[in-house]
Amino acid sequence: MTRPAAAHPLEAFAFADQAFAADVIDGLSRSPKSLSPRYFYDALGSDLFERITQLPEYYLTLAEASILKARAAEIAHGVPPGGVLLEFGSGSSRKTEFLLDALPQLAAYVAADVSETALDDARRRLATLYPSLDIRPIVADFSHPIECPPDLAERPRIGFFPGSTIGNLLPADVIRLLLVMGRSLGSNSRLIVGVDIKKDAPRLVAAYNDSAGVTAAFNLNLLTRINRELGGSFDLTAFQHRALYNAQEGRIEMHLVSLKDLSVKAVGRQFHFRAGESIHTENSYKYAVEEFQGLAISAGWIPRRVWLDEDRLFSLHELIAP
Ligand code: AVJ
Repeated sequence: MTRPAAAHPLEAFAFADQAFAADVIDGLSRSPKSLSPRYFYDALGSDLFERITQLPEYYLTLAEASILKARAAEIAHGVPPGGVLLEFGSGSSRKTEFLLDALPQLAAYVAADVSETALDDARRRLATLYPSLDIRPIVADFSHPIECPPDLAERPRIGFFPGSTIGNLLPADVIRLLLVMGRSLGSNSRLIVGVDIKKDAPRLVAAYNDSAGVTAAFNLNLLTRINRELGGSFDLTAFQHRALYNAQEGRIEMHLVSLKDLSVKAVGRQFHFRAGESIHTENSYKYAVEEFQGLAISAGWIPRRVWLDEDRLFSLHELIAP
């Protein structure tokens, strides 16, 4: 028996792809066109991002690691015995090691991430490195409140959200996320957030337009994903990676620019591109220290200490629950 043609374009796609399919239809129907950076991170995209963090131009990862390395004891100071470390979007948990080294008094490390494989790999590695640490992986999306395991619910919590992941959000959404994280952490908590700092545009742009072309491949992988998972017909040679610094908004923008007039199929529909038209694929906001503290205050947090690396490229903010 032949399968009837799907009445609705989304019906042709597996349930797991439904949100992706709906977001692609929505984003490519807009003017200007846009796609969410959350879809960068399939297996290849996660690999490419890992390579980005090792690029000489991508100063963020090294700068943040140097802060954590130099200041771990200071950051850990004041975390009470029996406290719980809760990391939002823990991924590989590599940066966490700096904190864990300085936090022998911890009752448990709760690692929250959407990727079960990443959580598994991290748990295995950390279990070897810290045999007495109580590791609790949770598959969860940090944009919703995270339920701590019940046996840990009464313990004081320290949240950790490194990497300037928060830079992907519009400032209004930063306030919303910090409010939600406050709910996940409860009273008597603190939050350590990694935030990239505003600096000269050439340095910022170079970090998102590296000479080896890894960031270009990372950006273009979004179209490969649409081709593979959503029946797309994107010609990857017809699109070019572009990174620019929007000084007005204080953000790096990544785009995929169509080099010619095109009609492309995706999710069973046709989308038209004019030559030079772009898909806006990512914002990466940069904040002066006081700017980010202002957002934190709007979300009900009290900014306390701030740590910078030697070259003042990156910041680690300590926020205290009121
Ligand atoms: C993972 C969101 C922090 O914005 O710097 C890196 C993603 N995009 N290169 C960033 C990214 C292009 C990264 N964050």
